[in-house]
Amino acid sequence: MQKIIILDFGSQTTQLIGRRVRELDTFCEILPYNKYPEDDTDVIGVILSGSPYSVHDPESFRLNLAAFMGRKPVLGICYGAQLLSHEQGGRVEKTDSREYGRANLAYVDTQNPLFEGFEQNSQVWMSHGDSITAIPVGYHKIASTADVNYAAYAADNQPVWAVQFHPEVYHTLQGMQLLRNFVVGICGSHQDWSAASFVDTTVAELKEQLGNDRVILGLSGGVDSSVAAVLLHRAIGDRLTCIFVDHGMLRKNEFTDVMRDYECLGLNVIGVDASERFFADLAGVTEPEQKRKIIGRDFVEVFNAEAKKITDARWLAQGTIYPDRIESLNITGKVIKSHHNVGGLPKEMNLQLCEPLRWLFKDEVRRVGRQLGIPEHLIGRHPFPGPGLAVRVLGDITREKVAVLQDADKIFIDNLREAGLYDKIWQAGAILLSTVRSVGVMGDERTYENPVALRAVTSTDAMTADWAQIPYEVLAKTSNEIINKVKGVNRVCYDISSKPPATIEWE
Ligand code: XMP
Repeated sequence: MQKIIILDFGSQTTQLIGRRVRELDTFCEILPYNKYPEDDTDVIGVILSGSPYSVHDPESFRLNLAAFMGRKPVLGICYGAQLLSHEQGGRVEKTDSREYGRANLAYVDTQNPLFEGFEQNSQVWMSHGDSITAIPVGYHKIASTADVNYAAYAADNQPVWAVQFHPEVYHTLQGMQLLRNFVVGICGSHQDWSAASFVDTTVAELKEQLGNDRVILGLSGGVDSSVAAVLLHRAIGDRLTCIFVDHGMLRKNEFTDVMRDYECLGLNVIGVDASERFFADLAGVTEPEQKRKIIGRDFVEVFNAEAKKITDARWLAQGTIYPDRIESLNITGKVIKSHHNVGGLPKEMNLQLCEPLRWLFKDEVRRVGRQLGIPEHLIGRHPFPGPGLAVRVLGDITREKVAVLQDADKIFIDNLREAGLYDKIWQAGAILLSTVRSVGVMGDERTYENPVALRAVTSTDAMTADWAQIPYEVLAKTSNEIINKVKGVNRVCYDISSKPPATIEWE
């Protein structure tokens, strides 16, 4: 299959380049800068990413450009553009001020295939400290802005292009056009990477890889594991056994609703109600990390006990997606999120790992899910933390407190759905501030009860998030319903903190 290789020099927008290329229905792989796959004949083009480094930093990344220069079309972005200049006899100099933000292409050569369809003055997004002050011999300028002479340049006789700005970000208004010009026009992508083709090829590969073996998969009710399960089921049918553990801290009715959905999808699911054990082990524990540890440990033990009963299993399947793997590969050495496995499966089971979604970004997982006929309410679900409502009840956890929170949470989510806001929000939920009590008045009675905080955020990846600007009427209706209907709650607050510095969850 045709592919674009994106060599990663550690920029925060490298993943975004990958997502944009996929939006052009073209497969791409993001690889560390020095891991160009020389023997891969499917490569149709190479993109060099940006970087937090300067080409003058002693620790900046270098690579063997000869492996692909002149052989495949190349596009350098930001640091990638500077590196191409620096390595080939051009000049890159430190500038006093970092150029950051919007700029306009005062000159752009629309005859150049990279800029086909561009308008003069097109808005681009700059983010760089160094500037290219001379381009190498054999290259010519194809765009500039008021402040940046070499906003883009190209080789005279080789398929090489370089842009100082970031075409992958939204603020470069014709960025998608530029990437399309490169990926489709220049590299010749057939644009045949689609959800339908992914399903067909992956099902065929899974049949080949798994043969007649039995596979176990842990279901969480979330999008990734659900899509992985349905894909595997299509390949191997009932030789897939799914395990869905209920720790008692899911949303209201979630376990039964999701079990019903899974059964409708034809999946072979073992539902395990282990809530007694989780509540018993959590009794009296108030410290958030301690709660997480207990839940993590119990989860593995419960899952393993079930998995062991499936004695002929050969594989453990997981819904790991591409960003999980890129983040764990992060070349700058700063691990942002470590990729969590089901963790510590008994060695004697000797299971091999199967990760059918390992090449997909989240939006692609959803597209594949739709292609597989998974109902929209499963595909569009908000992310939900593994420890569930345990990290949304402050202080110690009891079944009663979780039940109170479930009721308040349901009212909030139902109101968001009713107002047509659910799909516009990344994640929402309620938090029971059970360590706080405040005075209220209900009828003629004084109350002294717990507050509930509502949290709703917009985000694209949970790394940063903004509090969602929900209309007052929706907040007012939610607050009224919670206080009137949920016993034990006499006050409702709305959390207006963004991340950073706050986090999405309270614990
Ligand atoms: P924070 O609170 O760190 O959350 O801003 C970022 C995203 O991660 C989810 N989250 C978790 N997911 N186990 C999980 O599986 C956890 O312990 C956990 N803690 C937070 C959170 O819901 C949000 O989507």
